[in-house]
Amino acid sequence: MSTAIELKHVSYRYQDDGPEVLQDVNLRIRKGEWVTILGPNGSGKSTLAKMFNALLVPDAGEIVSLGYDTRDDQHWPALRRRVGMVFQNPDNQLVAPTVRDDVAFGLENAGVPQDEMRRRVAERIAEFGLSGLENHEPHRLSGGQKQRVAIAGVMALAPDVIVFDEATSMIDPEGSREVWSAMAKLRESRSMTLISITHDVDEAVLADRVIIMKNGRMFADGPPREILRDTARLKEARLLPPFAGTVADKLTARGLELTEHILTEEELITALWTYKQNS
Ligand SMILES: Nc1ncnc2c1ncn2[C@@H]1O[C@H](COP(=O)(O)OP(=O)(O)OP(=O)(O)O)[C@@H](O)[C@H]1O
Ligand SMILES: [Mg+2]
Repeated sequence: MSTAIELKHVSYRYQDDGPEVLQDVNLRIRKGEWVTILGPNGSGKSTLAKMFNALLVPDAGEIVSLGYDTRDDQHWPALRRRVGMVFQNPDNQLVAPTVRDDVAFGLENAGVPQDEMRRRVAERIAEFGLSGLENHEPHRLSGGQKQRVAIAGVMALAPDVIVFDEATSMIDPEGSREVWSAMAKLRESRSMTLISITHDVDEAVLADRVIIMKNGRMFADGPPREILRDTARLKEARLLPPFAGTVADKLTARGLELTEHILTEEELITALWTYKQNS
């Protein structure tokens, strides 16, 4: 697979005399990959994400994002359009008086012709389950709906990469499920590169690859099955292992012989069912 974003020896500090919040980060994200970034508060996850579309540029090292050197400001408009970001608080991302205008906002800024714009907006509104809400005020919607408006607006620009920075952490479980099903849809329908920053290890299970940040450094990088089963390493990064895995480990410790490598609820149920039928 070809490369979407590559970081080489990237370091960054917010103030000249401040601490390095990214330290010698080396990372290659492939096109079409779904990467989850985990890590404790202040470990540098959001700072890292802002490097992908040149909201921040490295002090040392280099980043090539979609073929552009992010230090060159002539590429910034293209990068901002092609690497979409959805942040934690939907209220900070909604700008227009109606849902329709909000989804159209980025397209309008990008100078997309009216007909094309209307078509794309209608498609995204339908795709993210917002039909019927076109004329509603974004600020009066539920958290899940607001976040879907934000995602629809980013997706209307047809980005190559979309970054979710704790996009579900402020919304309730039902709202999160709505956002997740919207994300799963993105995965199915397009060969998009998806980067999601989260504190939720159960969400990380779904990804192709899990990265753990700790103190501004890459602390772990690998497939979810490898990273999320390493309880000791997770603990070192102040993360809890996935719930189903913990239950499986405790049952195994009590003598129940379950299939190995249980990470999801579904796998736990299957393992328990198989156990019951064999005993
Ligand atoms: N605008 C800023 N100015 C100065 N320091 C900042 C700024 N933004 C973040 N920092 C500092 O940089 C470090 C990394 O912050 P960052 O927001 O990248 O962490 P994070 O992993 O996203 O944390 P969280 O899980 O809380 O979102 C922290 O020590 C933070 O205090
Ligand atoms: Mg953050």
